[in-house]
Amino acid sequence: MAIKVAIEGYDQLEQIGVGGMAAVYRARKVSIDKIVAIKLLFPYLATDASYIDRFQREAKAAASIQHENVVNVIDYGESDGAFYIVMEYYDGRTLEQLMKERPGLPPEIAIRILLEVAYGLEAAHAIDIVHRDVKPANIIVTNQGAIKIADFGLAKLVHPGGEAADALSTGAPERVMGTPAYMAPEQREIVTPAVDSWALGVLMVEALTGKLPPAERLPPALAPVIDACLSTDPKRRPAMAEIARALRGESEERLTEPLSPPARSPAPRRSWIPIAGGVIAALVAVAAVWQFAGGRTSEASLPPPPPVVTAPPPRATPAPTPTPTPTPTPTPSVTVRSTPPGATIVIGGEVKGKTPATIEVPLPVEIELRRKGYRRAHARATAEGPIDVRLVPVPKHPSPLEPLD
Ligand SMILES: Nc1ncnc2c1ncn2[C@@H]1O[C@H](COP(=O)(O)OP(=O)(O)O)[C@@H](O)[C@H]1O
Ligand SMILES: [Mg+2]
Repeated sequence: MAIKVAIEGYDQLEQIGVGGMAAVYRARKVSIDKIVAIKLLFPYLATDASYIDRFQREAKAAASIQHENVVNVIDYGESDGAFYIVMEYYDGRTLEQLMKERPGLPPEIAIRILLEVAYGLEAAHAIDIVHRDVKPANIIVTNQGAIKIADFGLAKLVHPGGEAADALSTGAPERVMGTPAYMAPEQREIVTPAVDSWALGVLMVEALTGKLPPAERLPPALAPVIDACLSTDPKRRPAMAEIARALRGESEERLTEPLSPPARSPAPRRSWIPIAGGVIAALVAVAAVWQFAGGRTSEASLPPPPPVVTAPPPRATPAPTPTPTPTPTPTPSVTVRSTPPGATIVIGGEVKGKTPATIEVPLPVEIELRRKGYRRAHARATAEGPIDVRLVPVPKHPSPLEPLD
């Protein structure tokens, strides 16, 4: 359905989405030559005050949440009877598209996306806004790896204790109060933040297993929080902060624990890295871990992580080149130290001990250090002697744009 409505000051370029009430376009604000996204209320609904009112509420709800995991609303207005919301444009795809295109989302990546969604919803709930329509089609994964919750079309401002669900029909009855597969059992009658916890519970199962609940197998560390989200009693569902805590713990755990090769078939694993148009940058670190775990060595489009390392200057050993391989010195020893100590030393996928430790290993060698709560560090030893690595702590609320290690 291509409804073209001219909005003063904007060139509409192409339609990028369409739903029950509105269509979304990529557009250009002519005056500043900036690409934006415009959501346009269907013209035939623009004669009905209740739809206009709802559309404006959507704009206000989204605009009032200032958070990196929520779409940024720039403007709301009316031009010649056309009501529109102007948003920042995010180049990427929805989580729904992503899961369809690349089935078998690696758990590290799924957990990372879910964590960002939980952060965004936590920010909404902090100002009493319930999204009510959390689902993969309303989550945008940008090509830079940012995660944005979109579509506050059903969002509701609730008072503590909840609010009765309203009954404005949008022509598509199931869209009145939510999307059935993600709707909490009580959502038709009463709306509290717990309906978003339910929907996120469904989303967690879907993103981690590829299927909607009931889940066959879940990561053991997340199963309790997911089960609690899917509790029929809304009071027993965890709040967003608690869900985020569980996801963050699991995300950090997976980045620091020694890796064993994942029990997946190689095909989807390989297909994940070069997502059309570029790697999901913020997930690069996660993808690198996952790639590392799979033992891939080929054309990784991933930049080498900057080593935080002070190594002694290499002696007369020439700078190593990929070919020919320099003849390894017979079992030289390297002492690996870190600040703080106690980091796991991983060489070629194998755990070699904890820092400080002296290891006998052919040179040159790539050493990886992992410690819970710290970013991974990489160092290259080209000569015998000590290597000192300073570990960088993982920020408490990492930005989605910040590499993880
Ligand atoms: N700010 C945006 N940047 C890029 N794409 C967007 C943006 N907002 C929405 N979209 C795209 O448009 C689709 C529909 O937007 P949404 O707000 O969910 O509308 P609807 O109420 O019609 O479902 C989304 O699934 C997404 O693909
Ligand atoms: Mg939508």
